[in-house]
Parts: sequence; structure tokens; C-alpha cells
Amino acid sequence: MKEIMLKKFIEVFGEKNNKEYFFTPGRVNLIGEHIDYNGGFVFPCALDFGTYAICSRREDNTFRMYSMNFEKDGIIEFTTDSLIKTNVWADYCKGIVDVLIKKGYKISKGADILLFGNIPNGAGLSSSASLEVLMGTIVNEINSLNIDMVEIVKVGQIAENQFIGVSCGIMDQFAVGMGKKDNAILLDCNTLKYEYVPFKLDGISIVIMNTNKRRGLADSKYNERRASCESALKDLQDNGVKINALCDMTLEKFEEVKHFIKSEEALVRVRHAVSENQRVLESVKSLQENDIEKFGKLMNASHVSLRDDYEVTGKELDSIVNAAWEAPGTVGARMTGAGFGGCAVALVKNESINDFIKFVEEKYTKETGLVPAFYVANVGDGSKKLGDI
Ligand code: GLA
Repeated sequence: MKEIMLKKFIEVFGEKNNKEYFFTPGRVNLIGEHIDYNGGFVFPCALDFGTYAICSRREDNTFRMYSMNFEKDGIIEFTTDSLIKTNVWADYCKGIVDVLIKKGYKISKGADILLFGNIPNGAGLSSSASLEVLMGTIVNEINSLNIDMVEIVKVGQIAENQFIGVSCGIMDQFAVGMGKKDNAILLDCNTLKYEYVPFKLDGISIVIMNTNKRRGLADSKYNERRASCESALKDLQDNGVKINALCDMTLEKFEEVKHFIKSEEALVRVRHAVSENQRVLESVKSLQENDIEKFGKLMNASHVSLRDDYEVTGKELDSIVNAAWEAPGTVGARMTGAGFGGCAVALVKNESINDFIKFVEEKYTKETGLVPAFYVANVGDGSKKLGDI
């Protein structure tokens, strides 16, 4: 990859001394969906594919950026005092610079940056968080800001919320920034306390299934779900329920106070959030007890809750997950990410992977007319500088 990018870099920006090489992965969430913004626990891991950058520092405050994934856009140029949203991929990078400046960091040096990503866009594997955290890592390095990765992660989320306008939670940026090879991250989104949990399973692989249905309207529906949760939280607090976030409740507590939630729709959304939080904790426990069958069942139950209560799956995700449930070698399967299309994740016994893929592909294509893609994923490290070139 490096060689191809290097060649392109010289073609686009000319020969430069002192080039640096960076990488930020994508992520897959194993369990704990749509609860990062409800103060819950999530359990994602970083992947071994993601976004790469070759960059050369500049002495002025100009950034010139070129993406091999969007060659038709050419070089996108901006300075630290012209951060205007133009609705292309570079907005994620401008957003990072904007938030860093607003937080008071001094950014005097720009860079010429060539990017290449191998995360499918819009598939729910966090290509945007990957780009944001990559930019944060680069700007931090070239301006010697000395900010730690958790701060870069927070900057990424603020950029997405305020510059891009999507009210996402912290999970994606955290996973791609803080990932660790062969480990998943148990993250408490309330406190940002986290724990690495080894996730290298004997004889079992993570198989990501891309429905190849793009997440149309995902952002507006995502914001709607968040609004429902916020209104339910307000109903509960107005009636004296002492919680700061929905996931502060156990299922028992929820049963006791659910009549305070005015809308029937919000009520089932909350049932998902509270039950999903419990499933995350149970699934990590089952992993620690080496009970992978139970982990798989909890993944399946997560999908059912996202389908019936949170209503974020849709025809394609349901079809691919149903097929996975019936396929040879499956331990568990569920949608992953925001939903409404994009990817699902399955744990599959190694000896059955080929049969699994064949079975799911045939059944899914027959039902939807779409051709899915499959990636057998390795769990990789978070964002980092790979070296000097
Ligand atoms: C998107 C958001 C995350 C999270 C997931 C759903 O990926 O960016 O913050 O809410 O959806 O779990």
C-alpha cells in the first residue's frame, strides 16, 4: 500500500523530504448498539483495515489534501482561517482543525496530505470516525500539541456533532482511536472508563457481512432515535426518577417506572437501551467464562431488540442476519453500527467459513436481489503514526 501511495503522493504534490506515514482503523461493534449516547456500555473493536495517510509538513497554516478514494475532487485546500464546510469528505478534516482551534490549541503548521482508505464508505464500519481521528493524530503530531488519544477522540466526536451535524455518540471515535490488537474494548460511555478484553477466539472468526445497501436517510433517523430517548429521559426525570441517563436503570427499575414515559414509541426504544446494556455486561462475563455459545446468543438477542424495539434494522439487515442464523458454523450474528443498511457481524467457526459465506450469499441475494460482501476481520490497533518515510 505504502508504495502505491508514495508514487501518488509525488505525482500529486511533487517530491518532498520528510514524509510521515499514519494509519487509523475502522471498527466493528460486537455488542452494545445505540446506547453510547444513553450512557451505556459498548463493546467494539478496531479492525486491521482503515485509512492511511502520507503527509509532509508545511511551514504555513495551509492544508492541501488529496484522497485516492475521491480522485475527481482533486486537491482540497484550506487554511486554519478558512474552515468552511463544502459537503465533501474533507469536511471531516476541517471539522477537526476547527474544534482544536476552538478548544484553544495553537495550530500554526499545515501539511500536504495524501489519503487512502479501504473501509467501504457508508457501510457502518466508521469510515468517517477513522478519517476524523486520523486527522486529529496528524495535526497533533505536526504541531507538537501533545494531546492524548482520548482527547483526540473527544475532538472527533465534537467535530462530527457540530461541524458535520450528526449527533453521534463517542463509540466510533473511541474504538478507532484507542483500539488494541486482539482485544475488544469494554467502554462505559458515561464515564469513559474502559477495559481491554482479549478477543482472540480459539477456532472462531469475526465475519463482517456488508448488505451493500447504503444507509439512506440514516442520519435523520439516527437523530430521531436520539430525540425519542431524550424525551423519555425527560419524562422519567420530571416524575422524580433519579437517573442521569437511560442506561442508569436496570430492567427491574425500568419495569417499575415505565408508565411515566408518555409515548408508546419512546417506551420501546428505552426497553431496547436498558436491555442492551444488560446484554453487554452479560456478554463480557460470558467471554471471561469462556462461554462463547452464550456470547453468540446474546448477539442474536441484540439483533432482535434492535429489530423489534429500536426499529433500526430493515429488510436487508434482517435478511442477512436471518440467513447467518441458519448458516453452518454460526455462533451468533447481529447488525452492527447505526443500522438502516450497512453491515452485520457474525462469529463463525473457522472450518465453516466458506460454507457460511456461500449459504448467506445465496439466500440473501435470492431475497433482496443484492450481492453482499464478506470480510473476515482481524482485530487491530488504534490510530498511530506508522513511521517516517
Ligand atoms: C453510529 C454512531 C455511534 C453509535 C452507533 C450505534 O455508529 O456514530 O455513536 O451510536 O451508531 O450504536
